[in-house]
Amino acid sequence: MRGLILSGGKGTRLRPLTYTGAKQLVPVANKPILWYGIEAMVASGIREIGIVISPETGEQVRALTGDGSRFAAQIAYILQSEPGGLAHAVRTARPFLGESSFAMYLGDNLIQAGLAAPIERFEANQPEALILLKRVANPTAFGVAELDGQGRVMRLIEKPKVPPSDLALVGVYLFSPQIHAAIDAIRPSARGELEITDAIQQLIEVGKRVESVELTGWWLDTGKKDDLLEANRVILDEQVHCPMEGSLDEATKVSGRVCIAKGARLVRSMVRGPVTIGPECLIEDSYIGPYTSIAGGVQLKNVDIEHSVVMEKTRISGAGRIVDSLIGQRTVISRHNGKPEAHRFLLGDDSLIEL
Ligand code: G1P
Repeated sequence: MRGLILSGGKGTRLRPLTYTGAKQLVPVANKPILWYGIEAMVASGIREIGIVISPETGEQVRALTGDGSRFAAQIAYILQSEPGGLAHAVRTARPFLGESSFAMYLGDNLIQAGLAAPIERFEANQPEALILLKRVANPTAFGVAELDGQGRVMRLIEKPKVPPSDLALVGVYLFSPQIHAAIDAIRPSARGELEITDAIQQLIEVGKRVESVELTGWWLDTGKKDDLLEANRVILDEQVHCPMEGSLDEATKVSGRVCIAKGARLVRSMVRGPVTIGPECLIEDSYIGPYTSIAGGVQLKNVDIEHSVVMEKTRISGAGRIVDSLIGQRTVISRHNGKPEAHRFLLGDDSLIEL
């Protein structure tokens, strides 16, 4: 079985971050979201992985992720020249997939359970597709499944106005090569995309077997800020490997599960976990509260921050209390001492400031 991870798309819901970077590279607990999918595949025995990339962010994805050796896998990059939908991405990847069955993972999705159990079931029952489902409160935002009394998939609808159930399609799928013929038979949807949901529905219509597994663990689709902060919270809660390699002065207090990478320095600060602090950070006279990830090279001075993600090389000083925030790379937030208190901004399009 091969692996296919989709890492294209425009990431409009995470603007302005996604003007300069791929949404799949936004870090959760200081690791790009995309890497969780790669690791899940490798853990279930998949070693040949194709990553579908876009012309805009593909080079960043490739430069950061590499040829797969860091994951003990082989990674091939497949350029999808236009955002034509998930089924279009599979069509683009067809030369890579050949006649193999494959696991497909949307690069902005995270699931708690690994892939081993669904793959085992797929291999034992040999359906043409196996989908993962999760009950959600807002099914209109997803692909939705309608099951019969025995749990067989009867019908799938993409983003229905009137959902037939609350069972959303999770962005993880297992396919036999039959999916390619189904993709060839469908037309673009109202949003102009070739939907993978429609291709699976096509399999059902021509009498092929589509099975489903209902997920019990968490599933996070990290497309928006609050979802991303929730993913960060959940992963920090469950993270097992937690190095303590940085240096702390005597006035610094650390409690709870706190990971501090090499070269990070904490001075007169307090950290209450779960928190992760990346390499070469300098944290002075600050408080870092639960569910915060600070990426490498960040400098904080006189900052009180919690339940937030701060990306690489950002510098914040004298900013007061920051909560529920997602702050991009190389951002500078500072207070000008001695001047009347006023805010000064240099902001890109679609920034969000709550004062
Ligand atoms: C896509 C799929 C949808 C699925 C969702 C999961 O939606 O089309 O069926 O439920 O991923 O994240 P999109 O993110 O393209 O809106």
